[in-house]
Amino acid sequence: MIQQKSIRIQTKRAALEFEVDANSRLNQRAFGGNASDESTVVAIPTSGDGWVFEPAIRAVHADGNTSTDLIVEGVSQHADLTCIDLRDPEYPFYLQLFVRAIFDLDVFEMWTVIRHDEESEVVLEAFASSSLDFGTGDFRLTQFSGDWADEANMTSEKLTPGIKSLDSKLGVRAHQFTSPWFLLSKGSDSRTPLQSDSPPLPVRSSEDEGVVFAGALAWGGSFKFSFEVLPKGRLRTVCGMNPYASAYRLAPGVEFETPKMVWAYSDRGTGELSRKLHRYVRDEVIRDGNSPRSILLNNWEATYFTFDEDKIVSLFAGAKDLGIELFLLDDGWFGSKYPRDDDTQGLGDWIPDLAKLPHGIGALTEAAEKLDLRFGIWFEPEMVNPRSRLFEEHPEWLIRQPKREMELQRNQMVLDLTNPEVRSFAYGILDTTLRENPGITYVKWDCNRYFTQPGSSFLSPQNQSHLQIEYVRGLYEVMGRLAAEHPGVQVMMCSGGGGRVDYASMRFAHELWPSDMTDPVRRIFIQWGFSHFFPAIATANHVTRSGDRPLKFAFDVAMSGRMGLDIDLAKLSECEREVAAVAIATYKQIRDIVQLGDLYRLESPYSGSRSSLMYTYGDRAVVFAFSLGESFGNPLRLKGLEGGKQYQVKEINPECGRELTLSGGFLSEQGLPIPTLGKFESVVFLVTGQ
Ligand code: DGJ
Repeated sequence: MIQQKSIRIQTKRAALEFEVDANSRLNQRAFGGNASDESTVVAIPTSGDGWVFEPAIRAVHADGNTSTDLIVEGVSQHADLTCIDLRDPEYPFYLQLFVRAIFDLDVFEMWTVIRHDEESEVVLEAFASSSLDFGTGDFRLTQFSGDWADEANMTSEKLTPGIKSLDSKLGVRAHQFTSPWFLLSKGSDSRTPLQSDSPPLPVRSSEDEGVVFAGALAWGGSFKFSFEVLPKGRLRTVCGMNPYASAYRLAPGVEFETPKMVWAYSDRGTGELSRKLHRYVRDEVIRDGNSPRSILLNNWEATYFTFDEDKIVSLFAGAKDLGIELFLLDDGWFGSKYPRDDDTQGLGDWIPDLAKLPHGIGALTEAAEKLDLRFGIWFEPEMVNPRSRLFEEHPEWLIRQPKREMELQRNQMVLDLTNPEVRSFAYGILDTTLRENPGITYVKWDCNRYFTQPGSSFLSPQNQSHLQIEYVRGLYEVMGRLAAEHPGVQVMMCSGGGGRVDYASMRFAHELWPSDMTDPVRRIFIQWGFSHFFPAIATANHVTRSGDRPLKFAFDVAMSGRMGLDIDLAKLSECEREVAAVAIATYKQIRDIVQLGDLYRLESPYSGSRSSLMYTYGDRAVVFAFSLGESFGNPLRLKGLEGGKQYQVKEINPECGRELTLSGGFLSEQGLPIPTLGKFESVVFLVTGQ
């Protein structure tokens, strides 16, 4: 037992402070800026022994006791890691709370490890990774929600007494309707204005000012974030894997580790917060986060399932001429008895369809290699169509409920990755394809449905509620093997658009596909949403024909992230080919700025007809402005430049010859002159320090 100790976890501008009280209970001061002087409250609320709000931990002990009490037994702090050891004073039930603080980024990772030595299983019914208190104030929650082809729409609301929860019960992926991340801004407490001398401040969080937190759960399965404004106005958050239908029977001696809940803090608005998170994602989440990505041509929207070897090879030459660096062969390349000619069959039969590709994948990789084009391929390793050989051979490998009619989504079922045999199969098909075709250097990992009938024939009847957790653990084993054994193969994380966009799945990938919505007009909003949590280098944006927008506009929107194309190059007119060639050459000129630079969001598409953003990298910057309606040429105030420095500014894509030299001070205060833009027109400027 430890008595009365204060534990301070400090980053550059934030602090998380715990206190062990005279009874060895762990308490917490409001999380936030350095100088928090709020009183302390319980740090890890447990169910059944006094706490009547949302618990972080609920356990049913081996003797049936449904309460848990935790006292601190030890604290260790080494470098960036703090570990607080707690136990139930009456039971050999242990919980370790870990906090890793990344000093420069004001990022805190929190997770727990639970274990016990009781005489038989303990049932865990709530197992949050983090249960932080934020003190009193006016809180606004911003969530990023939507649906297939409509991801990451931003909605903000004031939190009021009671619980607001964001959650997912989808199992195989964190998101289709709600992203596993959110923003939480904190303004001054306006509940009791009469007690204060000065009038209450409005809730305020903008790009450049205000106290704002970001939360993200590094977990690719079901999650739950609860925001509870308690009676005296304190905000308590409880975040972690979703305990819904997931009671976990923990055997004695086995460790149960919860995923990392990632918190970031800024007292200078969401712009700085995103830049910190971008740095975190590059350095700690995605693979090779500091190496620029190739320009990719995908054939999905260009051909869908209708292609053959000649068609694919014919795309290579055109791609090379335009300066494209990587070709991605999408869905439809496999299946024999049940060729994958549409989405009704073939999924699970990962052998090339010889009717379409008579010489296999090898002929394609060789043809690509001759032109010095990299080659990538699409997989959906966790899924099966009932019309497939795999289904005929292994009907028992599915996630489904006995005695219920199979519920198909996109004509497919999920394979049961809790079963080690299924995991070997899933890894085996990737491994075999990559070993047989060493020319493949890129994999798009897709996932086009979620659980609706969560039953496993591998898990025992009493462990069915482990499915949601064990599935994701199994998935990570397969993804981990792919990354470890094929380190040279880049991975795009896709899930029927932006469904697998959590900070854990992305550890196995280089980039993500944010949405199947590729109309650049809608895409501006989707990319805006994603930009709060992911840097441009991780966000794949493809130019397509969707929406039939001007091609330059489509290119400019794609260029503001990791640019690629998904169009039939053979169908480009002469004039369009010229637009594409110029855009690709332009992107190569600014790729390092976009992919490695710092993002400044300038004008939100949610608040006007012009949306704009810029990236700075060293003494160069690139500015994008998109017009969603008629937009008048208001000067655009730039950010991130040095006030006293002179900058040359020129319009690019295409270059129009006009150049201006203006000081950083002028550009940030008076603004960059922008022409009046018609609907769906756009401009890109390169800014170079002199
Ligand atoms: C859904 C993905 O989001 C698309 O990009 C494409 O790969 C299709 N699946 C293929 O079935």
